[in-house]
Amino acid sequence: MKISMIGTGYVGLVSGICFSDFGHEVVCVDKAEEKITQLKRGEVPIFEPGLSTVMERNVTAGRLQFSTDLSSAVADADAVFIAVGTPTRRGDGHADLTYVMAAAEEIARALTDYTVVVTKSTVPVGTNRKMADIIRRTRPDAEFDVASNPEFLREGAAVDDFMRPDRVIVGVENDRAQQVMGDVYRPLFLRDFPIVFTDLESAELIKYAANAFLATKISFINEIAALCERVGADIKSVAKGMGLDGRIGNKFLHAGPGYGGSCFPKDTSALARIGQEHGVPQHITETVIHVNEAVKRRMIDKITDLCDGSVNGKTVAVLGVTFKPNTDDMREAPALTIVPHLVGNGANVRVVDPQGRREGEALLPGVTWETDPYIAAKDADVLLILTEWNEFRALDLSRLAGSMSNPKMADLRNIYSREDVLAAGFTAYDSVGRKS
Ligand code: UDX
Repeated sequence: MKISMIGTGYVGLVSGICFSDFGHEVVCVDKAEEKITQLKRGEVPIFEPGLSTVMERNVTAGRLQFSTDLSSAVADADAVFIAVGTPTRRGDGHADLTYVMAAAEEIARALTDYTVVVTKSTVPVGTNRKMADIIRRTRPDAEFDVASNPEFLREGAAVDDFMRPDRVIVGVENDRAQQVMGDVYRPLFLRDFPIVFTDLESAELIKYAANAFLATKISFINEIAALCERVGADIKSVAKGMGLDGRIGNKFLHAGPGYGGSCFPKDTSALARIGQEHGVPQHITETVIHVNEAVKRRMIDKITDLCDGSVNGKTVAVLGVTFKPNTDDMREAPALTIVPHLVGNGANVRVVDPQGRREGEALLPGVTWETDPYIAAKDADVLLILTEWNEFRALDLSRLAGSMSNPKMADLRNIYSREDVLAAGFTAYDSVGRKS
């Protein structure tokens, strides 16, 4: 099959590369020339474990190409995927569909034979139908169908998520489009991964509902964590006890400094808007958003308390600033709220992150970047763990405590135990949802 992928951002690049690994002929298209040049040189512009290996083997096999020429890429494709960005529109929380609609129009002009135009970008309910109208208006003679195929890739595990998905969701309007989409995903279907065919609106909503539900689990457990602290319970035991109930499940019940990333904040806020627009307010999702903001403020209070009421003049060594480990992505990371607060209130902040510096430098002015946690902690007052990178999970606690001027730890990912930290020489330890 011939597939073109419009947009080589995170989703487009991972999907395009993985489709070529299914054996399809794929052209990934982007307007950004330097990005395409970089890809043609064999360089992957994002940090995603395993992606460059898959890219290399498919380029070598001649199945994967990169281009800035949308028209030729679309002309003989069986399926054209739109994977351009849908950022949150400033001011109103709406998903900004400018890029999606512009891509649809450009694709329409380039269509030749029957083609399925598929949205991978996360778009509000009704967008696929609007997109079909635009294509029809631009090219009344074109033979095409639209399909909605939302992605569920986790950053840091995206290749595996693509190759071994829990499910694939495809919204279509007729058998012809379903046949093409079935062929696109045949390698997964043959290996018994579930493919759910549904209508366009349901497919669009599944993505928002799934992400809002996961965000709800996180905000829920973060609120229970605050209660644990007040009543003397332990969130790890509570989450374990809850998660063993098969109806609840143990995933996404890790308390922490709040969810971030490119999806949960954007999709919860878009779902809240969609609900308001249709006169069906999504109260739970709206509350989840508020709770997530409050969690970050609660974390600031914890750090301030460890600094005896003021961070002014204190040295804080921050371990991890990306929104989660195994990514260089800083979008909506709790660090973007917490670190500027510390800097703004007079703290001397040192940051260590295995991948975060490239993006983080511009986003976190006023901090000092270090590469080694032990150097960052030297003479510091507080060690603050914000992202649970593997390299921060087995630190030599005694060495750290010995070199700090005031060995206190705020472990906002609950990766250490209070007993171990205090036994190593720290004088205070705070975490989330456990005794401080
Ligand atoms: C998410 C969804 O998992 C994915 O299906 C969707 O397509 C895109 O959004 P991603 O943003 O890459 O993926 O990260 P994920 O691993 O889901 O974590 C999101 C945020 O939630 C992170 O900030 C993480 O630290 C936080 N989180 C996750 C918790 O605080 N507790 C948890 O138990 C799980």
